[in-house]
Amino acid sequence: MPLCVNVDKSQVSKVLEIIRRARILSDEYKITRSGNKVLIPIKVEHVDVVQGLLRDFSIIECNPPRRRSPIRIKMPSLDYIGDVVIVRRNVLDHIDAEDLVYRVRVVYPRVRAIWVKEETCDLYRKPLLRLLWGEEIKEIIVKEHGVLFKVKLGDVYYNSRLAEEHYRVASVVKSGEVVLDAFCGIGGFALHIATLKLSLVIANDLNPTAYELLVENILLNKRRLKGSIVPLNTDTRELPVFLRERSVDRIIADLPHQSLEYIDVYAKLLKPGGVLHLYVLSKMSENVEQEIRRSLDMWYFKECVSVLEYSPGVFVYRCDLVKPKTI
Ligand SMILES: C[S@@+](CC[C@H](N)C(=O)[O-])C[C@H]1O[C@@H](n2cnc3c(N)ncnc32)[C@H](O)[C@@H]1O
Repeated sequence: MPLCVNVDKSQVSKVLEIIRRARILSDEYKITRSGNKVLIPIKVEHVDVVQGLLRDFSIIECNPPRRRSPIRIKMPSLDYIGDVVIVRRNVLDHIDAEDLVYRVRVVYPRVRAIWVKEETCDLYRKPLLRLLWGEEIKEIIVKEHGVLFKVKLGDVYYNSRLAEEHYRVASVVKSGEVVLDAFCGIGGFALHIATLKLSLVIANDLNPTAYELLVENILLNKRRLKGSIVPLNTDTRELPVFLRERSVDRIIADLPHQSLEYIDVYAKLLKPGGVLHLYVLSKMSENVEQEIRRSLDMWYFKECVSVLEYSPGVFVYRCDLVKPKTI
């Protein structure tokens, strides 16, 4: 049975925006209304996948009527950003390249390039891209909740599916806080925070191209910023040399495959009572908690939520922890 988000009429547009941004609105089933409630069908098979994204809403099994569509183009999972399409390599195991190009061009008539993401590699988490069709467009501008980002595809990490997560974390930051975005990429979290809150964000990334784009993105959004961003281009391991111990209220550690290797750094820099948003990779949320508890047993564990699917069956989780006052 498909899954539906069960929402009050008044919240439909908000939920639809989240769902559309995450590209999980079902194209197979219709949105249906019953009294004051609306059922919005989504194309995910397990509640876990959207637990983080739609945590404030109820997700239920449903049986909505199917859409009637004269031409049904079945599309594989892809990202459409700035007139460029990016598909994962494994998509081509299930669909012929020519057929894929045809379908993409019918559904997105303005598309100018179709890239295949072969893998994510090296320390900088850069995608290795191969042009399947179109112009070699690598530089694009994307918008997340009104915040603009310049991206150089292939040179930096960027995932448009993190847009909601950027916004969600920024929403819980309090004005006046000092926040460290320890692996900031081109500034996803940092810019959302500084747009929403009067806070100071120290944004660091080791990749020089990500740093350059971070600086450009700060300038690009200058007029929208309430808070300030200090851009840094160093190894997070070195940060305790530059920053005072116990000087930050909140740390965002978005390096899912290695974030646990920097626990001593977070412990040094966070104030007692400060919050750590730790991103980790796992198949099951229970395993995540156990693994983190092994390294941070005294810390208060708030929650772990799945943020996105990293590879089939493996999820990125965000775990929120509070540093004990006694450390
Ligand atoms: C998953 S990406 C971060 C994405 C970013 N938070 C966003 O929302 O777009 C991880 C980033 O960590 C950076 N990185 C890897 N090792 C690092 C280190 N030791 N110190 C600082 N940055 C590092 C990479 O260059 C990469 O941009």
